[in-house]
Amino acid sequence: MDASKLLAGAKIVPVVVIDDVDKAVALAECLVAAGLRIIEVTLRTAAGLEAIERIVDTVPTMIVGAGSIRSVDQVDAVMQAGARFGVAPGATGRLLNTVDRAGLPFVPGAATASEMMRLLQRGYTLQKFFPAELAGGIPFLKAVAAPVPEIRFMPTGGISAELAPDYLALNNVAAVGGSWITPQGLIETGDFEAIARLAADAAQLGM
Ligand code: 3PG
Repeated sequence: MDASKLLAGAKIVPVVVIDDVDKAVALAECLVAAGLRIIEVTLRTAAGLEAIERIVDTVPTMIVGAGSIRSVDQVDAVMQAGARFGVAPGATGRLLNTVDRAGLPFVPGAATASEMMRLLQRGYTLQKFFPAELAGGIPFLKAVAAPVPEIRFMPTGGISAELAPDYLALNNVAAVGGSWITPQGLIETGDFEAIARLAADAAQLGM
């Protein structure tokens, strides 16, 4: 299922890697207070799934998605945890069949024109362009805008506070994702004041 509607104009999607599940709620509250209303919690750490569950239960205004989905088993698990959408670095037929069946709004990853076209054929008009900076960045997105005008992207991977506005200025970019708003080091030390400042700056770019 295409996730375009869910994004509903949100321009910034913080990508969060949580090691300590006890920090999840404070982190989400800090982002909401800064004006951000969508978050991608990656399944890269063992705490990811429980972090999603806790944020969903405690911070109802936050739209919580699950990132780095790679296996079909994770689809069920994230839905049970309450994730409203899923994000993946790429896509496989099996994974797409599973999210379709489950009805999970999904942002599949693509980095080449053929991958993008295959996803478009399956109805995905919102795609994650990953890893954005390494896969060609802004020049690449400009180059595909004319040949594949139907697709809007959520570039992620290597995007910084400085680069984000340039990505967002492109017509085929719906939102940008990234971990620059919630650096792992700041989460680990519990420096939510610093995260709040980064989040407030990001929110200025469009919530
Ligand atoms: C992701 O999982 O989407 C990316 O690894 C996040 O990329 P970043 O850490 O470079 O922002």
